[in-house]
Amino acid sequence: MNVLLIGSGGREHALAWKLAQSPKVEKLLVAPGNPGIGLLDKCECISLDVENLDLVADFAQENKIDLTVVGPEAPLVAGLADVFEARGLTVFGPSKAAAQLEGSKAFSKNIMAKYNVPTAFFKICDNLEDAKAYVEAKGAPIVVKADGLAAGKGVVVAFTKEEALSALDEMMGDHKFGSAGARVVLEEFMDGEEASLLAFTDGKIIVPMIASQDHKRAFDGDKGPNTGGMGTYAPAPVLTPALRDKATEEILKPMISAMQKEGTPYKGCLYAGLMVKGDSVKVVEFNCRFGDPETQVVLPLLDSDLAEIMLACATGKLDQIEIKWSDKAAVCVVVASGGYPESYEKGKEISGLDAASELGAVVFHAGTKLAGDKIVTSGGRVLGVTAVDDNIKAARDKAYTAVDKISFEKAFSRRDIAWRALNR
Ligand code: AMP
Ligand code: GLY
Repeated sequence: MNVLLIGSGGREHALAWKLAQSPKVEKLLVAPGNPGIGLLDKCECISLDVENLDLVADFAQENKIDLTVVGPEAPLVAGLADVFEARGLTVFGPSKAAAQLEGSKAFSKNIMAKYNVPTAFFKICDNLEDAKAYVEAKGAPIVVKADGLAAGKGVVVAFTKEEALSALDEMMGDHKFGSAGARVVLEEFMDGEEASLLAFTDGKIIVPMIASQDHKRAFDGDKGPNTGGMGTYAPAPVLTPALRDKATEEILKPMISAMQKEGTPYKGCLYAGLMVKGDSVKVVEFNCRFGDPETQVVLPLLDSDLAEIMLACATGKLDQIEIKWSDKAAVCVVVASGGYPESYEKGKEISGLDAASELGAVVFHAGTKLAGDKIVTSGGRVLGVTAVDDNIKAARDKAYTAVDKISFEKAFSRRDIAWRALNR
């Protein structure tokens, strides 16, 4: 089959890498892709205005695309899957209405509350006075969340009342995130350890993947500012098999049936951000797409054919597929540009990519571009260096040995990825 993949980051490189391994995939077109994706067998990077949904659908029709896979949330929230399905095109990813699970935190919290899916207590506020009054009444710690998409920056975990009030002023008063912050969700602070549980679903059944754990802070010891994610590992031992079953029964399955009952069936990858404390597991957030950089450690452990699974999800036939996982472990270390997540320079030549691969690591490109015959940096998170081995410790050692081969001016990475798993 011919597959079209939308996106350009490390997550999409991992998706393309796994899809290209499928004997069923003849050709994989990636819009816009990246230099790492361009080197993969069967893959071709193309330029396409992915914000123009009709144009993307025209392209899929003209190029006889059998399956379109959407990496990032924005095209899904904008309704790409709806445009495709209206034309009879097969797409992996939820409809616009179902993507509201990520696109609107209020929507997502309301569904969870209605169907008794465990999550933090919350209040939805549409105006600044009500929001401030609620914070005054509840006190800190409290979590302030912009309702809409805010590029991963719309959540403030406030440890004092003042922090919460000033977050509200920024979101609702100064419109820091535009209309995304016109409504906020105020949430009870949950203590515990986080894990990401991604799942495949065709709208009727849902099958969890292997649990992983991200490292959101920029520096070692979980210090420094929040980032898109500085590294991941899988499996995440915090989500024991028993807790994963519990999350499947109490969270994933009820959500899929809730979305059906609400008339907005959810298909594609459902990403559940979970908070684990003892034997309690609650939802922090849902995303309507694969995680980045979670995908970079989850897919290398998938022993089954990803194209076949995605096609089954898109066509309501997931019950006909067996999904098998390796019993190994994977670690991904992000190599970032100095200064990230604040300002950083671009265009730095990257060396050592081949040497890292020769050590058995897979180097996923996230923020790179071609400059002549050189590969240079073009983003904050530049590479995701991933290694698979018998256990987390061995995978981590292998990943860091590969990371040490790679260099560019002002490169940095965390040196403690997977510390929680190794401390157990
Ligand atoms: P997000 O940017 O939506 O991925 O989430 C931001 C981060 O805020 C999450 O990964 C959690 O670390 C934290 N967070 C969100 N909601 C809560 C909550 N209710 N209690 C504690 N931490 C939270
Ligand atoms: N790694 C966090 C996310 O993909 O949202």
